[in-house]
Amino acid sequence: MSEMRIEAATFREVLGHYPTGVCVITAINAQGSPVGMVVGSFSSVSLDPPLVGFFPAANSSSWPQIEMAGHFCVNVLASDQTALCRQIAGPGDKFAGIEFSISEHGLPLLAGAMASIECQLESVTAAGDHFLVLGRVIKLEAHRQTDPMLFFRGRYGGFADAA
Ligand SMILES: Cc1cc2nc3c(=O)[nH]c(=O)nc-3n(C[C@H](O)[C@H](O)[C@H](O)COP(=O)(O)O)c2cc1C
Repeated sequence: MSEMRIEAATFREVLGHYPTGVCVITAINAQGSPVGMVVGSFSSVSLDPPLVGFFPAANSSSWPQIEMAGHFCVNVLASDQTALCRQIAGPGDKFAGIEFSISEHGLPLLAGAMASIECQLESVTAAGDHFLVLGRVIKLEAHRQTDPMLFFRGRYGGFADAA
């Protein structure tokens, strides 16, 4: 079967039609500072054993620090956390003014997140210009019953029940 040539702009535009939730993957780096990256590629993977996954870009500056930590926390964002999301996804100081606590596993839990899923790094597999990362869940907790942050066609929004 011959492969269709895929333009980057078309790939992004068409894949943007698939909505995602938004999470921040956090860890403490080798210098003892918090690191975090925003991902839309998070997914539940397996119940037995309990595995979750996401896809960090190969050129991410945060991912190598999270990988070295060997543990990470998935913080599921609520729709009222767009300012935090933009800050952590941006080029500036990601944690300036961001409230978080440190869990018993030594991971940053972002204040206001809907849920936290703490993981031990299970595997890292090359996947084109990204990695496929699996984490084994070691602790998980729901913190808020509120509107989730959703990302769709380049915009942030919330959840609405279908008619
Ligand atoms: C809604 C949203 C979803 C994103 N999803 C991913 C993702 O799944 N994987 C990824 O590597 N980057 C993703 N990004 C981009 C990174 O969050 C952002 O580029 C990153 O914080 C900067 O990279 P670095 O700090 O790791 O170098 C996403 C950004 C946004 C705003």
